[in-house]
Amino acid sequence: MRVSVIGAGYVGLVNSVGWCSHGHHVTCIDSNRSLIHNLKNGKTTLYEPGLEQALQQELQTGRLDFQESYGSVAESDVIFIAVSTPSSADGSIDLSCITSCSQSLAAELAKSESFKVIAVRSTVIPGTTEGLILPLLSESGKKPGKDFGLAMIPEFLREGIALEDFSRPDRIVAGISSVDLKTRKLLEELHSVFRCPLVFTSFKTAELVKYASNSFLATRISFANEMSRICEKLDVDVDEVMAAVGMDKRIGPHFLKAGPGFGGSCLPKDVKALVAEFRSHNISALLLDSVLRVNEGQKLRIVEMLKSVIGPLQGKKIAVLGLSFKPETDDIRESSSVAIIRKLLAEGAAVKAYDPRAMEKARSILPAVELCNSPEQSLSGVDAALLVSAWPEFQKPAGFYSSLLKQSPLFDAQRMLDPEEARKAGLAYYSIGRGFPWKNP
Ligand code: UDX
Ligand code: UDX
Repeated sequence: MRVSVIGAGYVGLVNSVGWCSHGHHVTCIDSNRSLIHNLKNGKTTLYEPGLEQALQQELQTGRLDFQESYGSVAESDVIFIAVSTPSSADGSIDLSCITSCSQSLAAELAKSESFKVIAVRSTVIPGTTEGLILPLLSESGKKPGKDFGLAMIPEFLREGIALEDFSRPDRIVAGISSVDLKTRKLLEELHSVFRCPLVFTSFKTAELVKYASNSFLATRISFANEMSRICEKLDVDVDEVMAAVGMDKRIGPHFLKAGPGFGGSCLPKDVKALVAEFRSHNISALLLDSVLRVNEGQKLRIVEMLKSVIGPLQGKKIAVLGLSFKPETDDIRESSSVAIIRKLLAEGAAVKAYDPRAMEKARSILPAVELCNSPEQSLSGVDAALLVSAWPEFQKPAGFYSSLLKQSPLFDAQRMLDPEEARKAGLAYYSIGRGFPWKNP
């Protein structure tokens, strides 16, 4: 089939490369001229394991192209919308990109004679596909169900393993009009390559499934983070607790790791947008409000530990290992490390930071931070060190840290070291979710 993908971000680019790898002709469209230039030349401007290589591979097939204009839409069988849907200041969703993209699509639809399906992949609040996108597309003068089909097919890609999640989805959820059999048939054919359930449902159900999925994942993480607090008081290891909890088939082991709070461009945005949606219907999202509140508090838990051991931060030098919101990505959107560093700077500390991949992205938003070229450089000559994201590169013997930090303490948000090994190496070591001598409540 001929596929167009609007938006060349994490989701749009993975979809473009992914559909091309299944033999389709794909044109990926983006308004960012330099991004399009880089992609045409096989260069990705984000780090996603295997993506740049897959991009170069698919470019060689001659079936993958990148454009600024919407010219390819008229000839496409399927058009995926994967443009940004960021948070507004009050946490609600910003639909400006969706609106402008739908208007551009309508202009192209008006010129087209062949049936095509427009599939929304961007995360949009329930009611958007039917209430905003469909009327905008209908301004083309074309009839939904007859001249074009509309679908809402949320993406469930995790950064760092996005290609894997694209190729092996647990399920495909497709919101369509129940009477639009042409769209159903085309989507069944397009998704026949995936060995997983293909669930057809209503537009609003598909939209809500995405928010409910991400909100539940966020809830599990905040639950683990809340458990970590009582573990610190009881001198119990939160990982041992959650591992045994996760053995219950009804619970499962995934997304129960306590840490510095969840970040990224999706979980925080989507939970906030869903809470805003509850508010717009005058109902309170008591649980999801708490999930967000626990998350905000958790980000700075490690700074509270730091201060309770070394005292006021004014004039102190602190190392921070890990800037991306999680390992295997250079994405620092809503990264807990950024919130932690801002707090350290606000309390008068100087910061020396290192990340295996996110240095470039961090440079622009953390100008007051000394960005180091290695963990060794970051850990030298500091009063304390914080290990924030669990990059494999930070999995070092305790002796590595004690030789660099000398008497300065290491605070570990990911419990990458063994406390007994740290003690033997003479390393002053503390970690979130394990016994900690809290003096204050
Ligand atoms: C995006 C949405 O932000 C997210 O809500 C959804 O779940 C998946 O798609 P992501 O790929 O991370 O996620 O977005 P982002 O990295 O912001 O990339 C979006 C791309 O769309 C950018 O490259 C931007 O230049 C492009 N864009 C945005 C357009 O081409 N046209 C527009 O009108 C707006
Ligand atoms: C998430 C969803 O997993 C994905 O399905 C959706 O399509 C997009 O949003 P992503 O944001 O890429 O994916 O990363 P994810 O692996 O979910 O991690 C999100 C945050 O939660 C990260 O900061 C991560 O460090 C944190 N996390 C994750 C935990 O703190 N504990 C865990 O057990 C899992």
